[in-house]
Amino acid sequence: MGRAFVYVILGGGVAAGYAALEFTNKGVSNGELCIISEEPVAPYERPALSKGFLLPEAPARLPAFHTCVGANEERLTPKWYKEHGIELILGTRVKSADVRRKTLLTAAGETISYKYLIIATGARALRLEEFGVSGSDAPNVCYLRDLADATRLVDVIQTSTGGNAVVIGGGYIGMECAASLVINKINVSMVFPEPHCMGRLFTPKIANYYEEFYKTKGVNFVKGTVLSSFVFDPEGKVTGVNLKDGTYLPADLVVVGIGIRPNTSLFEGQLTLEKGGIKVNSQLQTSNSSVYAVGDVASFPVKIFGETRRLEHVDAARKSARHAVAAIMEPDKTTDFDYLPFFYSRVFSLSWQFYGDNLGEVVYFGDFSGTSFGAYWVHKGQLVGSFLEGGSKEEYEAIAKVTRLKPVIEDLSELERQGLDFVVAL
Ligand code: FDA
Ligand code: NAD
Repeated sequence: MGRAFVYVILGGGVAAGYAALEFTNKGVSNGELCIISEEPVAPYERPALSKGFLLPEAPARLPAFHTCVGANEERLTPKWYKEHGIELILGTRVKSADVRRKTLLTAAGETISYKYLIIATGARALRLEEFGVSGSDAPNVCYLRDLADATRLVDVIQTSTGGNAVVIGGGYIGMECAASLVINKINVSMVFPEPHCMGRLFTPKIANYYEEFYKTKGVNFVKGTVLSSFVFDPEGKVTGVNLKDGTYLPADLVVVGIGIRPNTSLFEGQLTLEKGGIKVNSQLQTSNSSVYAVGDVASFPVKIFGETRRLEHVDAARKSARHAVAAIMEPDKTTDFDYLPFFYSRVFSLSWQFYGDNLGEVVYFGDFSGTSFGAYWVHKGQLVGSFLEGGSKEEYEAIAKVTRLKPVIEDLSELERQGLDFVVAL
């Protein structure tokens, strides 16, 4: 049994939704395109899962956050796909791929063939077992990658009001979930091995601002240590966690956010990998010319830095997906993918954006005891990265625009003196 399509998108996440929109913009015909997704729902804006989805009042629920609402584009509901002749093959895991034969085999035993394949399989959450700790399957230990995880987390939150949560990991999931748990009136302890939160991006000074803010909301930080074991009740529910430094923390709920691994396994040995992802060129094309890779799973050349990177953020997923479709449909008109990395987060009343690279010397500006401040990174005499908390739309646009220009910085103290005026003036 089998079906044949001209274009197949493997994976039904953020990148898949934006790719579908671009396919329709470029004029795909009825029945030419399908999306195969393990998830039972049409592509949605994954960032909502750690934010609006977890709110106690008026939480976000599908269909409200199907792609492409995140970029104020059309909202692609299942009806939209039907109207545009795009086949959604949902609740279907692809278990093997043969790029030479141009076929995918689903867990249900169907062979799906393609002329062009876009790999948009994203990533999976790392599990504690991979760090030698068991207990991930306990009913109140929660991960957060997809809608099923988020639905389960909401159920556990609802039975934990007034109780204690332990958040393992001080990255994006840890920070955003900790804020959501506080809003749900749960006491939160955050545990992570680094000396400060958001170690991959924040400097100690920036991290300190957020940690102090979280402390005013009652969050307890336990830094420089990791989980060593869970304590269970007779039903197998976690009641507490033991940390390597000897601390014991009681827990009604545990959220784990300790990083991800890109879903590359179907293609290992068939396509070239780099930096943990599927290596693509500036057209998002893999080492096989019929296969493209986008989003979290793709390692692509970031032209402005002159090196290959794999990014785990929604803006990169949206833009790489659209670019790959343009490259497939209009190869002669499509220039190189020239992407400026953009990361952001929103928690409590706070909101920050970052553009570029966090490399080199750091120059701070603004009021770190107030509500708006920022930082520039200067590497080899050029401004390469900008961070801003509490900015206006125009200010965020200005830091993005100037970071892309990589202006030469001769005098760091002059940059510090000018602060945000530096980008506004340029
Ligand atoms: P994505 O993970 O979205 O989709 C992959 C899809 O492929 C899934 O549907 C999966 O089921 C499917 N799949 C995988 N293997 C398959 C197989 N073998 N067969 C069939 N289907 C398969 N970023 C940001 O910039 N700002 C933010 O605020 C947030 N917030 C945020 C919150 C939460 C809770 C998460 C988990 C992540 C974020 N992110 C984020 C990151 C952002 O969501 C992420 O970068 C994008 O979702 C990546 O999009 P992709 O389409 O590449 O993968
Ligand atoms: P992350 O890489 O942001 O953070 C992982 C954290 O895990 C590290 O900061 C570290 O503190 C911690 N850690 C590592 N090993 C540990 C261990 N053994 N014990 C305890 N802690 C350990 O990953 P994440 O927070 O899990 O996020 C998952 C993915 O979701 C990422 O790709 C992220 O970009 C994405 N995401 C992004 C946003 C956003 O951009 N606003 C929001 C949510 C999720």
